[in-house]
Amino acid sequence: MTAALGIFGVHRAVTDGELMMEGVSLNNVAERFGTPCFVYSKAALTTAFQRLDGALKSVRKNRPYLICYAVKANSNLAVLRLFAELGAGFDIVSGGELKRALMAGGKARKIVFSGLGKTAAEMEMALRANIKCFNVESESELERLNEVAARLGMKARISLRVNPDVDAKTHPYISTGLKNNKFGVAFDRAMDVYRRAAALPHIQVVGVDCHIGSQLTDDAPLQEAMGRIVALSDALARENITVRHICPGGGIGITYKDEGTIDLDVYARALEASLGNRNVELLLEPGRVLVGNAGVLVSRVEYVKPTDSKNFLVIDAAMNDLIRPSLYQAHHEVVMTGPLRAATAERIYDVVGPVCESADVLAHERTLAAHEGDVVAILSVGAYSFVMSSNYNSRPRAAEVMIDGNNAALIRERETFDDLVRLERLQTS
Ligand code: LLP
Repeated sequence: MTAALGIFGVHRAVTDGELMMEGVSLNNVAERFGTPCFVYSKAALTTAFQRLDGALKSVRKNRPYLICYAVKANSNLAVLRLFAELGAGFDIVSGGELKRALMAGGKARKIVFSGLGKTAAEMEMALRANIKCFNVESESELERLNEVAARLGMKARISLRVNPDVDAKTHPYISTGLKNNKFGVAFDRAMDVYRRAAALPHIQVVGVDCHIGSQLTDDAPLQEAMGRIVALSDALARENITVRHICPGGGIGITYKDEGTIDLDVYARALEASLGNRNVELLLEPGRVLVGNAGVLVSRVEYVKPTDSKNFLVIDAAMNDLIRPSLYQAHHEVVMTGPLRAATAERIYDVVGPVCESADVLAHERTLAAHEGDVVAILSVGAYSFVMSSNYNSRPRAAEVMIDGNNAALIRERETFDDLVRLERLQTS
C-alpha cells in the first residue's frame, strides 16, 4: 500500500485489522452477498459531492452553479438517487441514462445531454422531458435537433460542445479535447455553427460546453480550455448571441495509488477567475471524482498458483467485472480484507481472473499475504467499473451493495444464469 487507506473509503478495524467500509466488515459483505461484489460507501459518495459543492460555493457567494453528475461513471439508481437528493443535476449520454436519472428523482431542468451520436428518438424523449440543455457535437446534429424540435412544436436549448484543442495529458483512450478526436465541434468552426444555431427557429442557444478528457491530475489543461470557451462566449456576446451558462466539462482526477491530483478549491477559484464579472451560470460534468474512491470490488481468492517465473493469485473477479487494468493499464490498489495473520508469508503476485485472456490481469506484481479462500478488496472502483462490466465467458455480472453506517443494502442483485440467456432463443426457424 502506498497511500493511506482512508483516501479509498476504507479503514482497518482497530481490534483485529479487518478491512471496514464505514461500520461494516468487508468479510461480512463477502459472506452475506457473495463475491465478486461491488461495495460503495454512502458517506464517501456524500463527502465527495460536498467537497466539490463546498469549493464552488465558497469562491463567490452569488455565482449560480450546477454540478451535473456524469451518469456514465456509475449509473446505479441508488447512487443517482443520492446525488439527486444532494441537489445534483445529471450529465447523460443516452436515452437509457435519461430514464435512469428521472427514475432516480433527477429533475429534467437540471439535466444536460452530451454525446456525439444522439438519435432522433433520444432527442424526442429529452425534448418531451424538457431537459435543461443539449450539448450538440456537430452541425448535422444541430440540424437534426432543429427538425425534431420543429416536429414537436418546441425549442431545444443548446450548447455547442467545442473542441478547444487542448492536450489533457492523460491516457489517449480517455483524452477527448484534441483536434483529432471524434468529439465536439472544432474550435475554429464554433462561431459559424453558433451563428447557424442562432438562426434556426427551433433552437435556442443557452451555453458553451467542452470536455477535454478524464483522470486529469493537473488542472492547467482544464483552465486553458476554460479560458478558450470563456473567450468564445465573449465573441458570441459581441454578435448578440448571449449564453446563460459555461461548462468546462468533467475530468477531475482521483488518487489511485499515491499520485497527487487537482485541489478542488484551487480549481474552483481558477474557474471563477476566468468567469470574472460575466453574468453566467457555471456548470460542471464531473463523474469519477464523485464516485471513484467510494467503491471497492470484493473478491475471493480461488487459487494461489506459483509458477517458475511468477506467482499468480487467481481470484473470482475478472476483466469482465473490472476492465480498466486491461483496457488502460489502470492501477488499482489490492488489499487483503484481513484480519491480518502474522504467520502468512508475503509474496509478489499478479492478481488475475479466470477469464481466458492473457490481458485478464487486475493488478501486476503486488506484495500480498494470501491464502486460498481469503478475501481481497480492489480499491477505487466506484467509477467506470461496474458500468463497463460484461458477461464475457458467460459470467453473471456482480452484485452491488451500498454501505450506510452499520447497514449494508443490496442495490443490484447478482445476475443469474437465467438472466444471461433470457433474451436468447434456441429456435432459429
Ligand atoms: N462529460 C463528458 C462529455 C464526458 O465524456 C465525460 C467522460 C465526463 C463528463 C465525465 O468525466 P470524468 O469527470 O469522470 O472524468 N472509462 C474511462 C473514462 C471515460 C470517460 C468518458 N467521458 C475510465 O475508466 O477511465
